[in-house]
Amino acid sequence: MEIKRLTDHAGAEAVGIDLTQPVSAETKTELNRAFVEHSVLVVRDQSLNPGQVLAAVELFGSIFHQHNTRFALPECPQIHYISNQDRFPDGTRYIPGEGWHTDHSNDSRPPKATVLHAVTLPDQGGDTQFANMAAAYAALPAATKDRIAGLMAIHVYQNSHSTRKLMGLSEANKERVPNAVLHPIVRIHPENGRKSIYVNPIRIEGILGLDHKEALPLLDELLEHAVQDRFQYRHAWRSGDLVMWDNRCLLHKANGDYDMDQTRYLYRVMLQGDVPR
Ligand code: SIN
Repeated sequence: MEIKRLTDHAGAEAVGIDLTQPVSAETKTELNRAFVEHSVLVVRDQSLNPGQVLAAVELFGSIFHQHNTRFALPECPQIHYISNQDRFPDGTRYIPGEGWHTDHSNDSRPPKATVLHAVTLPDQGGDTQFANMAAAYAALPAATKDRIAGLMAIHVYQNSHSTRKLMGLSEANKERVPNAVLHPIVRIHPENGRKSIYVNPIRIEGILGLDHKEALPLLDELLEHAVQDRFQYRHAWRSGDLVMWDNRCLLHKANGDYDMDQTRYLYRVMLQGDVPR
Protein backbone atom coordinates (compact mmCIF):
# COMPACT_ATOMS: atom_id res chain seq x y z
CA MET A 1 0.00 0.00 0.00
CA GLU A 2 1.13 3.51 -0.77
CA ILE A 3 -0.31 6.71 0.73
CA LYS A 4 -0.06 9.89 -1.33
CA ARG A 5 -1.01 13.39 -0.19
CA LEU A 6 -3.72 15.07 -2.33
CA THR A 7 -3.35 18.67 -1.10
CA ASP A 8 -1.19 20.42 1.49
CA HIS A 9 -3.99 20.82 4.02
CA ALA A 10 -6.41 17.87 3.57
CA GLY A 11 -6.74 14.62 1.70
CA ALA A 12 -4.59 11.60 0.98
CA GLU A 13 -5.17 8.57 -1.19
CA ALA A 14 -4.30 4.98 -0.40
CA VAL A 15 -3.52 2.80 -3.42
CA GLY A 16 -2.45 -0.81 -3.67
CA ILE A 17 -4.74 -2.23 -0.98
CA ASP A 18 -7.74 -4.54 -1.33
CA LEU A 19 -10.10 -4.13 1.62
CA THR A 20 -11.81 -7.46 0.89
CA GLN A 21 -8.59 -9.14 2.08
CA PRO A 22 -7.25 -9.39 5.65
CA VAL A 23 -5.31 -6.26 6.66
CA SER A 24 -2.14 -6.61 8.77
CA ALA A 25 -1.76 -4.77 12.10
CA GLU A 26 0.96 -2.63 10.51
CA THR A 27 -1.26 -1.58 7.59
CA LYS A 28 -4.18 -0.89 9.93
CA THR A 29 -1.94 1.43 11.99
CA GLU A 30 -0.73 3.15 8.81
CA LEU A 31 -4.31 3.70 7.56
CA ASN A 32 -5.42 5.13 10.91
CA ARG A 33 -2.36 7.39 11.04
CA ALA A 34 -3.07 8.67 7.53
CA PHE A 35 -6.71 9.32 8.41
CA VAL A 36 -5.81 11.45 11.45
CA GLU A 37 -3.01 13.28 9.63
CA HIS A 38 -4.85 14.06 6.38
CA SER A 39 -8.50 14.20 7.61
CA VAL A 40 -9.82 12.79 4.31
CA LEU A 41 -8.63 9.32 3.36
CA VAL A 42 -9.49 8.09 -0.13
CA VAL A 43 -9.00 4.36 -0.64
CA ARG A 44 -8.99 3.76 -4.41
CA ASP A 45 -10.20 0.84 -6.49
CA GLN A 46 -12.46 -0.98 -4.03
CA SER A 47 -15.51 -3.05 -4.90
CA LEU A 48 -17.23 -3.76 -1.61
CA ASN A 49 -20.67 -5.09 -0.77
CA PRO A 50 -22.34 -3.69 2.38
CA GLY A 51 -20.92 -6.41 4.65
CA GLN A 52 -17.44 -5.78 3.27
CA VAL A 53 -17.83 -2.03 3.82
CA LEU A 54 -18.68 -2.73 7.47
CA ALA A 55 -15.67 -4.98 7.92
CA ALA A 56 -13.40 -2.41 6.26
CA VAL A 57 -14.53 0.55 8.36
CA GLU A 58 -14.23 -1.41 11.58
CA LEU A 59 -10.46 -1.11 11.01
CA PHE A 60 -10.97 2.50 12.15
CA GLY A 61 -13.47 2.19 15.01
CA SER A 62 -16.94 1.08 15.99
CA ILE A 63 -20.14 1.81 14.09
CA PHE A 64 -22.25 4.87 15.00
CA HIS A 65 -26.03 4.40 14.70
CA GLN A 66 -27.29 7.07 12.29
CA HIS A 67 -30.33 9.05 13.35
CA ASN A 68 -32.63 8.79 10.35
CA THR A 69 -33.17 5.08 9.73
CA ARG A 70 -35.25 5.63 6.58
CA PHE A 71 -31.99 5.46 4.60
CA ALA A 72 -30.83 2.16 6.17
CA LEU A 73 -30.26 -0.78 3.81
CA PRO A 74 -32.76 -3.51 4.78
CA GLU A 75 -30.15 -6.24 4.34
CA CYS A 76 -27.49 -4.41 6.41
CA PRO A 77 -29.10 -1.64 8.52
CA GLN A 78 -25.83 -0.22 9.86
CA ILE A 79 -25.10 0.86 6.29
CA HIS A 80 -27.24 3.65 4.89
CA TYR A 81 -27.37 4.98 1.36
CA ILE A 82 -26.93 8.39 -0.22
CA SER A 83 -29.02 8.79 -3.37
CA ASN A 84 -30.32 11.55 -5.63
CA GLN A 85 -33.48 9.53 -6.36
CA ASP A 86 -35.44 10.33 -3.16
CA ARG A 87 -37.98 13.13 -2.89
CA PHE A 88 -39.40 15.23 -0.07
CA PRO A 89 -43.11 14.67 0.69
CA ASP A 90 -43.87 17.76 -1.49
CA GLY A 91 -42.23 16.05 -4.50
CA THR A 92 -39.04 18.12 -4.68
CA ARG A 93 -35.83 16.18 -5.11
CA TYR A 94 -33.74 15.56 -1.98
CA ILE A 95 -29.98 15.92 -2.41
CA PRO A 96 -28.53 14.75 0.90
CA GLY A 97 -25.73 16.85 2.32
CA GLU A 98 -26.08 19.86 0.01
CA GLY A 99 -24.75 22.73 2.13
CA TRP A 100 -21.78 22.89 4.48
CA HIS A 101 -22.15 20.71 7.57
CA THR A 102 -20.55 18.23 9.90
CA ASP A 103 -22.46 15.01 10.48
CA HIS A 104 -24.86 14.43 13.39
CA SER A 105 -23.44 17.18 15.63
CA ASN A 106 -26.79 17.07 17.47
CA ASP A 107 -25.59 13.85 19.12
CA SER A 108 -23.86 14.03 22.51
CA ARG A 109 -21.05 11.92 20.97
CA PRO A 110 -21.09 12.82 17.26
CA PRO A 111 -19.51 10.44 14.76
CA LYS A 112 -15.75 10.85 14.43
CA ALA A 113 -15.89 9.80 10.79
CA THR A 114 -18.24 9.27 7.89
CA VAL A 115 -17.41 6.84 5.11
CA LEU A 116 -18.92 6.76 1.62
CA HIS A 117 -18.31 4.05 -0.96
CA ALA A 118 -19.29 4.85 -4.54
CA VAL A 119 -21.73 2.39 -6.10
CA THR A 120 -23.14 4.42 -9.03
CA LEU A 121 -21.79 7.83 -10.08
CA PRO A 122 -22.94 10.40 -12.62
CA ASP A 123 -20.72 10.86 -15.68
CA GLN A 124 -19.56 14.19 -14.30
CA GLY A 125 -20.10 16.39 -11.23
CA GLY A 126 -21.35 15.34 -7.80
CA ASP A 127 -18.04 16.16 -6.11
CA THR A 128 -17.82 16.32 -2.32
CA GLN A 129 -16.10 19.41 -0.89
CA PHE A 130 -14.25 19.42 2.42
CA ALA A 131 -13.03 22.39 4.44
CA ASN A 132 -10.34 21.99 7.07
CA MET A 133 -11.58 23.59 10.29
CA ALA A 134 -8.23 23.23 12.06
CA ALA A 135 -6.46 25.21 9.34
CA ALA A 136 -9.34 27.70 9.43
CA TYR A 137 -9.05 28.07 13.22
CA ALA A 138 -5.27 28.58 13.00
CA ALA A 139 -5.80 31.39 10.47
CA LEU A 140 -8.35 33.31 12.59
CA PRO A 141 -7.32 36.71 13.94
CA ALA A 142 -6.30 36.57 17.61
CA ALA A 143 -9.27 38.79 18.55
CA THR A 144 -11.72 36.29 17.03
CA LYS A 145 -10.00 33.39 18.79
CA ASP A 146 -10.43 35.28 22.08
CA ARG A 147 -14.06 36.08 21.26
CA ILE A 148 -15.05 32.44 20.58
CA ALA A 149 -12.96 30.79 23.32
CA GLY A 150 -15.28 28.97 25.72
CA LEU A 151 -18.47 29.61 23.71
CA MET A 152 -20.94 26.72 23.61
CA ALA A 153 -23.33 26.16 20.70
CA ILE A 154 -26.78 24.58 20.96
CA HIS A 155 -27.11 21.78 18.35
CA VAL A 156 -30.50 20.36 17.32
CA TYR A 157 -31.63 17.98 14.56
CA GLN A 158 -32.76 20.83 12.32
CA ASN A 159 -32.48 24.46 13.40
CA SER A 160 -35.24 27.02 12.92
CA HIS A 161 -33.25 29.40 10.69
CA SER A 162 -31.50 27.18 8.12
CA THR A 163 -32.64 27.45 4.51
CA ARG A 164 -31.52 23.87 3.83
CA LYS A 165 -34.04 21.27 4.99
CA LEU A 166 -33.41 17.73 6.14
CA MET A 167 -35.66 14.74 5.60
CA GLY A 168 -37.89 14.52 8.70
CA LEU A 169 -37.42 11.90 11.43
CA SER A 170 -39.98 9.16 12.08
CA GLU A 171 -41.65 9.18 15.52
CA ALA A 172 -39.49 6.21 16.57
CA ASN A 173 -36.32 8.04 15.47
CA LYS A 174 -37.40 11.21 17.31
CA GLU A 175 -37.57 9.27 20.57
CA ARG A 176 -33.90 8.29 20.45
CA VAL A 177 -32.45 11.53 19.03
CA PRO A 178 -31.57 14.18 21.64
CA ASN A 179 -33.65 17.38 21.57
CA ALA A 180 -30.59 19.58 21.96
CA VAL A 181 -26.95 19.21 22.98
CA LEU A 182 -24.22 21.71 23.79
CA HIS A 183 -20.81 21.57 22.13
CA PRO A 184 -17.88 24.00 22.20
CA ILE A 185 -17.41 26.22 19.14
CA VAL A 186 -13.71 25.50 19.38
CA ARG A 187 -13.00 21.82 19.87
CA ILE A 188 -9.75 20.00 20.42
CA HIS A 189 -9.03 16.96 18.28
CA PRO A 190 -8.72 14.01 20.67
CA GLU A 191 -6.01 12.33 18.58
CA ASN A 192 -3.76 15.17 17.37
CA GLY A 193 -4.58 17.94 19.85
CA ARG A 194 -5.30 20.55 17.15
CA LYS A 195 -8.02 23.13 17.76
CA SER A 196 -10.83 23.39 15.18
CA ILE A 197 -13.83 25.60 14.58
CA TYR A 198 -16.88 23.39 15.25
CA VAL A 199 -19.89 25.00 13.59
CA ASN A 200 -22.78 23.48 11.67
CA PRO A 201 -25.12 25.85 9.81
CA ILE A 202 -28.07 23.46 9.66
CA ARG A 203 -27.89 22.20 13.25
CA ILE A 204 -26.80 25.08 15.47
CA GLU A 205 -29.85 26.81 16.91
CA GLY A 206 -27.84 29.43 18.78
CA ILE A 207 -24.99 30.16 21.16
CA LEU A 208 -25.48 29.80 24.88
CA GLY A 209 -25.74 33.21 26.54
CA LEU A 210 -25.85 35.22 23.28
CA ASP A 211 -28.99 36.49 21.63
CA HIS A 212 -29.65 35.61 17.97
CA LYS A 213 -28.72 39.14 16.84
CA GLU A 214 -25.19 38.52 18.04
CA ALA A 215 -24.93 34.75 17.62
CA LEU A 216 -26.12 34.33 14.01
CA PRO A 217 -23.79 36.95 12.46
CA LEU A 218 -20.88 35.46 14.42
CA LEU A 219 -21.71 31.96 13.11
CA ASP A 220 -22.01 33.34 9.56
CA GLU A 221 -18.66 35.12 9.91
CA LEU A 222 -16.96 31.92 11.13
CA LEU A 223 -18.48 29.89 8.29
CA GLU A 224 -17.52 32.40 5.62
CA HIS A 225 -13.94 32.41 6.90
CA ALA A 226 -13.76 28.63 7.27
CA VAL A 227 -14.90 27.56 3.81
CA GLN A 228 -12.47 29.70 1.82
CA ASP A 229 -10.88 27.81 -1.09
CA ARG A 230 -7.51 27.83 0.65
CA PHE A 231 -8.86 25.45 3.32
CA GLN A 232 -10.64 23.11 0.91
CA TYR A 233 -10.08 19.74 -0.68
CA ARG A 234 -12.63 18.95 -3.40
CA HIS A 235 -13.10 15.28 -4.07
CA ALA A 236 -13.97 14.31 -7.64
CA TRP A 237 -15.33 10.80 -7.28
CA ARG A 238 -13.89 7.86 -9.22
CA SER A 239 -15.49 4.48 -9.54
CA GLY A 240 -14.26 2.27 -6.67
CA ASP A 241 -13.50 5.12 -4.25
CA LEU A 242 -14.06 4.61 -0.54
CA VAL A 243 -13.75 7.99 1.13
CA MET A 244 -13.54 8.50 4.86
CA TRP A 245 -13.47 11.91 6.52
CA ASP A 246 -12.91 13.31 9.98
CA ASN A 247 -16.05 15.08 11.22
CA ARG A 248 -14.13 16.44 14.21
CA CYS A 249 -12.13 18.87 12.10
CA LEU A 250 -13.89 19.21 8.72
CA LEU A 251 -17.04 20.60 7.21
CA HIS A 252 -18.23 18.96 4.01
CA LYS A 253 -20.89 19.42 1.37
CA ALA A 254 -22.35 17.48 -1.53
CA ASN A 255 -22.94 19.06 -4.95
CA GLY A 256 -26.16 18.49 -6.87
CA ASP A 257 -24.62 19.94 -10.04
CA TYR A 258 -25.02 16.93 -12.37
CA ASP A 259 -27.62 15.48 -14.70
CA MET A 260 -30.42 14.32 -12.40
CA ASP A 261 -31.50 11.72 -14.96
CA GLN A 262 -28.34 9.92 -13.86
CA THR A 263 -28.16 8.11 -10.54
CA ARG A 264 -25.65 8.97 -7.83
CA TYR A 265 -25.74 6.24 -5.17
CA LEU A 266 -23.19 5.56 -2.44
CA TYR A 267 -23.08 3.45 0.71
CA ARG A 268 -22.72 5.52 3.87
CA VAL A 269 -21.57 4.49 7.33
CA MET A 270 -20.32 6.43 10.36
CA LEU A 271 -17.90 5.70 13.17
CA GLN A 272 -18.47 6.52 16.83
CA GLY A 273 -16.77 9.63 18.17
CA ASP A 274 -16.12 11.19 21.58
CA VAL A 275 -17.78 13.99 23.49
CA PRO A 276 -16.38 17.16 21.83
CA ARG A 277 -14.08 19.08 24.23
C1 SIN B 1 -22.98 13.68 3.15
O1 SIN B 1 -23.11 14.84 3.46
O2 SIN B 1 -22.84 12.80 3.99
C2 SIN B 1 -23.00 13.31 1.67
C3 SIN B 1 -21.90 13.87 0.89
C4 SIN B 1 -22.01 13.52 -0.56
O3 SIN B 1 -22.98 12.88 -0.99
O4 SIN B 1 -21.13 13.92 -1.34
